[in-house]
Amino acid sequence: VQLLQKKRAELHTLGIDWRITGIASRRLGWCVNTGGFDPENLCGADPCGAGALAREKSINDVHQWLRSVQANVLFEATSLNVASGQPAIDNLRAALEFGAHAITANKGPVVHGYQELRDLAQSKGKRFLFESAVMDGAPIFSLFRELPAIHLKSFRGILNSTTNLILTEMERGMTFDESVEKAQSLGLAETDPSNDTEGWDATVKVAALVTVLMGVPTKPQQIQREGITRLKVEDVRAARQHGQPYKLVCRAQRTSSGVEASVGPQQLPLSDPLSAVAGTSSAVYFETDVLPGLAIIESNPGVETTAYGMLADFIHAVG
Ligand SMILES: NC(=O)c1ccc[n+]([C@@H]2O[C@H](COP(=O)([O-])OP(=O)(O)OC[C@H]3O[C@@H](n4cnc5c(N)ncnc54)[C@H](OP(=O)(O)O)[C@@H]3O)[C@@H](O)[C@H]2O)c1
Repeated sequence: VQLLQKKRAELHTLGIDWRITGIASRRLGWCVNTGGFDPENLCGADPCGAGALAREKSINDVHQWLRSVQANVLFEATSLNVASGQPAIDNLRAALEFGAHAITANKGPVVHGYQELRDLAQSKGKRFLFESAVMDGAPIFSLFRELPAIHLKSFRGILNSTTNLILTEMERGMTFDESVEKAQSLGLAETDPSNDTEGWDATVKVAALVTVLMGVPTKPQQIQREGITRLKVEDVRAARQHGQPYKLVCRAQRTSSGVEASVGPQQLPLSDPLSAVAGTSSAVYFETDVLPGLAIIESNPGVETTAYGMLADFIHAVG
């Protein structure tokens, strides 16, 4: 909402105006204001206070809610469900069936529902877009949409900020637990950080890139995965001192029978550009048939970076 507000004038120059007619979450329930919620209130310290977001008690599901708010666009940002991609898939499907564009920052529906949601969007003349799902606002999916007749052979990268920050802080002297606490205090890691530290978040991102960019439907469970929890702090420090730092490396390589993909800690030489990706930054290197080396590096992303991916999707959908 803050970014939509900040960019309102620029959006006007693109012929785009907006108002927020519905908000929903587990705690809030289904909220409706067809006249449009006041964005300043929503960005304030207590957006849910004073009944501003009164739950519409007569609404019981996403279909009723979409009808009530007369949505043109749904921004879906529920938590990642690694195993099923739900409830995001149901929410996005409902939006497209209703006739709204479906935008998500959640990678779950990309790996568990890509083909279905893409085809549904096409049949409805709407867009299913998910730029923020991998590397926040960095333009990965939109970049490849702009590269016609290209064949992605492989990629490798660092795609999980939390583990990269934890490894960086361990190299600098913190314990594993202290590094996790720092990642939590920065709002990166959740209370239960295991989705990141066990490599699941990175694995779902690899599955999303393989599914969409390589055209090979791939579930996270099909990817060889190892997190960083088995690494000892003294080994991480020694590895950096010997010029071979540990990184949680994501890889995918096209083979004669499909794609081989993995996520796991690896020691990299300092000559490898991935070894210089520190803290919360992330990077991915693509090898294509015509562009042998193409890289995207994202330094120090914040929550606005993620919001920008969703804003860019919004502009692509309605512009
Ligand atoms: N944070 C980032 O920088 C970032 C970057 C890239 C992608 N993403 C993706 O963006 C999504 C949101 O991230 P986040 O950090 O905001 O996650 P989060 O802290 O887990 O918040 C998720 C939100 O979704 C709501 N929610 C979860 N399950 C729900 C359900 N079953 N029904 C209705 N509402 C539900 C929660 O509502 P309640 O609070 O009411 O429970 C909460 O408002 C995730 O999929 C994440 O992977 C985030």
